[in-house]
Amino acid sequence: MKDFRVIDAFGFKLPTEIIGGPGAAQGLANISKQFGAKPLFVYPVQLADLATTYLQLLKDAGVAVVPFEQAEPEPTIEYIDGAADGLRGQGIDVVIGFGGGSAMDMAKALAIALTQKEGIWMYANLSNRPPLPLEGDVLPVITVPTTSGTGSEVTPYAVLTKPDTQQKGTIQEPAIFPRVAVIDAALMTGMPASLTASTGMDAFAHALEATINISKHAPMAELFGKEAMKLVFANLKSAIEQPSSLEFRQNMALATVLAGMAISHRGTTTTHAIAEPLGALTHIPHGLGVTISTVPVLRHTIEGAPEGLAELWREVCVGQKLEDAAAEATAFVDELETLIMAVGMNKTVESIIGKDDCQGLDERLIDSIMKFKFRPLKQHPVEFDANTLRPIVRDIIWGPK
Ligand SMILES: [Fe+2]
Repeated sequence: MKDFRVIDAFGFKLPTEIIGGPGAAQGLANISKQFGAKPLFVYPVQLADLATTYLQLLKDAGVAVVPFEQAEPEPTIEYIDGAADGLRGQGIDVVIGFGGGSAMDMAKALAIALTQKEGIWMYANLSNRPPLPLEGDVLPVITVPTTSGTGSEVTPYAVLTKPDTQQKGTIQEPAIFPRVAVIDAALMTGMPASLTASTGMDAFAHALEATINISKHAPMAELFGKEAMKLVFANLKSAIEQPSSLEFRQNMALATVLAGMAISHRGTTTTHAIAEPLGALTHIPHGLGVTISTVPVLRHTIEGAPEGLAELWREVCVGQKLEDAAAEATAFVDELETLIMAVGMNKTVESIIGKDDCQGLDERLIDSIMKFKFRPLKQHPVEFDANTLRPIVRDIIWGPK
């Protein structure tokens, strides 16, 4: 008989109902009514026209919706606290996040800010400081993504920006798991090619990092992660070439949801530990920062820990057996780099923000990672420190020499 004490435990919880399919957002009014009488509808200013259609749909169904047009693409803590001050006392009882990752994160942050006493930053879970516990219930959240990448539609995470320390922090609270995620591929057909590419690669990175993360036994995170990577390999290029194809958009939306479920159970590792402070220091959008960081991180991982990446070569790429694990890991990273080049995302920080703004950026970035993001570094198959991060960070900023 097996001794079960030597086998790791595993578990899985996803309290989010997923309603997926083209046209699913047409049912938003009925979904919203299940959770409250007065929803706050958060949408980014860039999507004002599309949002108007759904605000009208809610009004026509007799819903007393309160619109909130989000002006900041990556919301700062002052912006969130200020918005909450303006909205308090209006009887809002449910929050709808309609848009990309930052609109959904803003909705989650407001669900907390509208019910708690302290400023929103106190609820971020930082490597160097635990969050303040929530008191009582927060408002229920409904997500309606219009991009496929962040996975915020099914995660308990919300990313915040603190400008004075050029820092990003993440709220990680089961209370903000969305109650319902409405995944409507018809909302995603308007995404431009560059956004489709960078958000799609962000979803890939979530799937990859959750799969190779060494922090705990989580076989279901790996199952979802590997399937999500297969879907991105098979659909991302086609979604860009045929932007109005609902089939490719829906496959990318499914990849994003699977990757989001994977990171809800086993978080991200070194690529996100680099890309988040990179975004805070340079204002490069999250998906793009993740896309340009992934290959350099993996190239520097092969020597110390090739096995996990070799497994992805065999299982995700269904690649043939090669002479050793390092060769298979290299083949996987080559395959990923080929995809990144095919979707036009083979860039460096220098090519995005220019030479002058890259002066001294390597050391500032390393400082920020070591100060604020040391926890996810420990979850990567190779644990990098300030010295071993340096060549990776330089490859990301200037490209390999
Ligand atoms: Fe991400």
